[in-house]
Amino acid sequence: MPLAIFLLTLAAPSLGVTYLHDVSNTDLQGLLCLKLHLFSSARFLTSWKNDSMQFCSWFGVSCSKRHPSRVVALDFESLDLHGQIPSCISNLTFVTRIHLPNNKLSGQITTELGQLSRLQYLNLSSNNLGGKIPGTLSSCSRLQIIDLALNSLSGSIPEGLGTLTSLSVLRLTGNNLMGNIPLPLGSSSSLISVILTNNSLTGPIPPLLTNSSSLQVLALTKNHLSGEIPSPLFNSTSLQKLALGLNSFVGSIPTCTINGSPLQYLILQSNNLAGTVPSTLRNFTSLLWLLLGDNNFHGTVPASLYNLSALTYLGMGNNSFTGEIPSSIGYTLPSIQILILQENLFQGNLPSSLGNLQNLFLLSISQNNLSGQIPLSISNLSQLNELHLQENNLSGPIPGGLGRCKNLEALNLSSNSFHGSIPIELFTLLSLSKGLDLSHNQLSGNIPPEISGLINLGTLSISNNQFSGKIPSTLGECVHLEYLHMKANLLDGRIPESFTNLRGIIVLDISQNNLSGKIPEFLETFSDIEFLNLSFNNLEGPVPTGGIFHNSSEVFLQGNKKLCASSPLLQLPLCSSKTSKKRQALRILKIVGPVSLAVIPLSCFMVILLTKTKKVKQVAQQRNKGLKKLSLTDLVRATDNFSSANLIGSGRYGSVYRARFESEEHTVAVKVFKLDQLGAPKSFLAECKALRNTRHRNLVRVITACSTYDPTGYEFKALVLECMPNGSLESWLYPKLNKYGLRRPLSLSSRIVIAMDIASALDYLHNHCSPPMAHCDLKPSNVLLDDVMGARLADFGLAKFLQSFSYSCRHSSTSILGPRGSIGYIAPGALFSFKEKTFSTS
Ligand SMILES: *[C@@H]1O[C@H](CO)[C@@H](O)[C@H](O)[C@H]1NC(C)=O
Ligand SMILES: *[C@@H]1O[C@H](CO)[C@@H](O)[C@H](O)[C@H]1NC(C)=O
Ligand SMILES: *[C@@H]1O[C@H](CO)[C@@H](O)[C@H](O)[C@H]1NC(C)=O
Ligand SMILES: *[C@@H]1O[C@H](CO)[C@@H](O)[C@H](O)[C@H]1NC(C)=O
Ligand SMILES: *[C@@H]1O[C@H](CO)[C@@H](O)[C@H](O)[C@H]1NC(C)=O
Ligand SMILES: *[C@@H]1O[C@H](CO)[C@@H](O)[C@H](O)[C@H]1NC(C)=O
Ligand SMILES: *[C@@H]1O[C@H](CO)[C@@H](O)[C@H](O)[C@H]1NC(C)=O
Ligand SMILES: *[C@@H]1O[C@H](CO)[C@@H](O)[C@H](O)[C@H]1NC(C)=O
Ligand SMILES: *[C@@H]1O[C@H](CO)[C@@H](O)[C@H](O)[C@H]1NC(C)=O
Ligand SMILES: *[C@@H]1O[C@H](CO)[C@@H](O)[C@H](O)[C@H]1NC(C)=O
Ligand SMILES: *[C@@H]1O[C@H](CO)[C@@H](O)[C@H](O)[C@H]1NC(C)=O
Ligand SMILES: *[C@@H]1O[C@H](CO)[C@@H](O)[C@H](O)[C@H]1NC(C)=O
Repeated sequence: MPLAIFLLTLAAPSLGVTYLHDVSNTDLQGLLCLKLHLFSSARFLTSWKNDSMQFCSWFGVSCSKRHPSRVVALDFESLDLHGQIPSCISNLTFVTRIHLPNNKLSGQITTELGQLSRLQYLNLSSNNLGGKIPGTLSSCSRLQIIDLALNSLSGSIPEGLGTLTSLSVLRLTGNNLMGNIPLPLGSSSSLISVILTNNSLTGPIPPLLTNSSSLQVLALTKNHLSGEIPSPLFNSTSLQKLALGLNSFVGSIPTCTINGSPLQYLILQSNNLAGTVPSTLRNFTSLLWLLLGDNNFHGTVPASLYNLSALTYLGMGNNSFTGEIPSSIGYTLPSIQILILQENLFQGNLPSSLGNLQNLFLLSISQNNLSGQIPLSISNLSQLNELHLQENNLSGPIPGGLGRCKNLEALNLSSNSFHGSIPIELFTLLSLSKGLDLSHNQLSGNIPPEISGLINLGTLSISNNQFSGKIPSTLGECVHLEYLHMKANLLDGRIPESFTNLRGIIVLDISQNNLSGKIPEFLETFSDIEFLNLSFNNLEGPVPTGGIFHNSSEVFLQGNKKLCASSPLLQLPLCSSKTSKKRQALRILKIVGPVSLAVIPLSCFMVILLTKTKKVKQVAQQRNKGLKKLSLTDLVRATDNFSSANLIGSGRYGSVYRARFESEEHTVAVKVFKLDQLGAPKSFLAECKALRNTRHRNLVRVITACSTYDPTGYEFKALVLECMPNGSLESWLYPKLNKYGLRRPLSLSSRIVIAMDIASALDYLHNHCSPPMAHCDLKPSNVLLDDVMGARLADFGLAKFLQSFSYSCRHSSTSILGPRGSIGYIAPGALFSFKEKTFSTS
């Protein structure tokens, strides 16, 4: 014994040595032992070192009045107490109250607690205690209150607890307890409260418990209890709360034969109860909550049940109740706040008296067979927070008076037969935040721009109606939208640019409308989006490639005939045709515009004639019968109004666009000349002439040309060329420069093939064409690569026909524009002459 004290003293060095020999008090030892095993960031344990050894004044410790040095209570609530409760706590033999809730105590509850024969109150709730509840607790014969709730206790409830004759409160909610409720529980005549919710208890409610005449609270919700609801419970004159929800009880509701039951909460939802609701429930006149939902009840609800005037919460959803909602409901349930009748077979009209339920907070009568209109009195429900009437057969207009329910956060009227337009009063509901669902009705008209008033709305669904017109751009002001469903309407126009503000969107479904235009590129920057359905519209142009468009399982685009993609993942036609069947590409446009130049196999000789006369005859000579004409409108459409997305490249005299004609499967390139640029018209002619008369596998082939006037009267000239799927040689040689980061380096053999192709083209122009021609702007960006990486010489805007090969690119009638060619690729002589010129003018 002295050794133990000595050791304890060593472990608690702050204890004054001078008092060692006075230590005879076991309670001091017990407290010091507790100090050894428990830890707290609240540091109150460090104050347990008062040299005066007046431990009765230590924080949390109370001593007996009759026995001044005996500890009777430990109160350490919410002090971040860690560690295990040590068995030496049993040395505090006078303790009646242990109150350690809401700490971080761990380990098992020590069986030594059973030695505390004076213990009356044990509260260890909200800790991290595990293991079993020690059966030794039944030795604490004076225990009245046991609260071990919200721990991780497992095993079954010790039978002995039921035999504690003074027990009044047993609270074990929120553990992992299994097995039956102890049979003897209820033998205590002082039992007031049994709360065993949220465990895994099985079996029936023991008879003694149901017979208790003192029991006020019996809460067994969320277990696996079974059997019938014992009828004595419904005869109890003490019971105020009976919560049996979320179990597996069967049978029907017992009848109640007593008057003036004090029962306030009757919670039976989510069981397997069946039968009809007995009219004797009307004798529970104190009922505040009556929850019968999610069972198998059927039949009509006794009218007297709606007479329970104290009710604040009536839940009868998910049963098979029939009949009508009594028209007097607005007068008989004056206190009702939550009324849930959903998922039943109620029919008839919504009673107009509903408007009297001034406290109504949540009204759900969805999934029934209601018909008729929403009564106008609904506008009087000023407290209404949620209104769910979906999946009925309600009709008529949506009452604008709903706009006066200024607390409405969720409104679901979907899947009814409402018609007419959306009342704009709805859009004044700043409170609407959880959702507005009007889908699957016969609503029509435009979506009013006032919809921007719903600035807090998270979910909007107007799918499957007959809304027409454009999507108002003001919808982009509803920046809290996360779910936007507008599919299956008659909406047209474009996807508003203002949608760029809807950055929080998670689901966007605007499928099955008549929307046109391009898919806005900002969609690829939305980081939260998980589902995007644009299918079955008339959207066109290239599909963006970033963001959600990476994931083909989250994007739906089918049924938009004019969309193209740059990746085969989306199962759309590719934007840049990769066909090797060039003839198909050529078949496209053996076309000549009304004022266009023809592609004709004129001989080089004829070109000389044309050149000499300085006139380009606008011949519409057809090679085949049935050629189509190509108008400016066709080009505008094929290039999506010369959109920047279709711009492939831009040079001094023109811009090249990707174009896709409706009738054709393949993409072509359209070179539009910048006619306001000095020299451009000449360049057009030069290129026409050059390409019209050359025919070589290493020269880009012109399909047709278009020379006309645009609607504003300006000249318009364009060439339609084969589209070269692999772009320019420059983009392969300098991939970064050209934003083609992914292009792999050209192999040596490809480089040789390309060089040979270029040489072959030049050989043809210089030596086999009569008269010979000089390209005058040979550089990698003018060498295009076809689908098999064959090189084709392009851009003949500066080409020159040569009388003889002694002619130099330098001697040009266009010298006013500077030398022919591009800096860096011009023949040294040409550059020299340019410098000369510059010097001479300065
Ligand atoms: C020890 O307790 C006594 C009596 O409660 C008190 O007067 C004294 O200040 C305390 N001393 C210390 C160091 O806490
Ligand atoms: C109780 O205190 C005595 C000394 O007074 C000690 O020997 C014993 O081990 C303690 N009991 C427990 C359970 O710690
Ligand atoms: C246990 O303590 C907690 C926290 O103070 C309290 O909420 C709970 O009611 C107590 N248990 C009982 C049965 O008094
Ligand atoms: C039941 O306990 C679980 C954890 O065990 C908790 O998440 C849940 O909220 C509890 N439910 C109720 C109704 O107390
Ligand atoms: C229930 O209590 C009544 C008297 O209040 C008693 O006659 C009956 O035997 C008790 N039932 C059980 C199962 O203890
Ligand atoms: C309810 O108590 C009455 C007596 O007060 C008794 O006649 C009746 O049988 C009891 N009902 C049930 C279901 O136990
Ligand atoms: C219910 O209470 C009424 C009085 O409010 C009483 O007349 C009746 O007998 C009680 N029991 C039943 C089963 O209705
Ligand atoms: C409802 O209560 C009123 C007055 O309390 C009474 O006149 C009426 O008969 C009751 N209706 C039903 C169906 O019990
Ligand atoms: C309705 O009841 C059925 C069968 O008991 C169950 O499967 C379903 O989940 C319940 N629905 C709701 C919303 O509680
Ligand atoms: C729905 O109500 C109508 C009367 O309004 C009735 O004819 C029909 O049978 C009901 N349907 C169901 C499934 O109860
Ligand atoms: C709303 O309530 C007021 C008085 O509370 C009443 O005068 C008015 O008629 C009610 N409106 C509707 C549409 O029922
Ligand atoms: C819906 O109500 C209309 C009358 O408003 C009725 O003709 C129709 O049969 C009802 N539909 C269903 C499915 O009950």
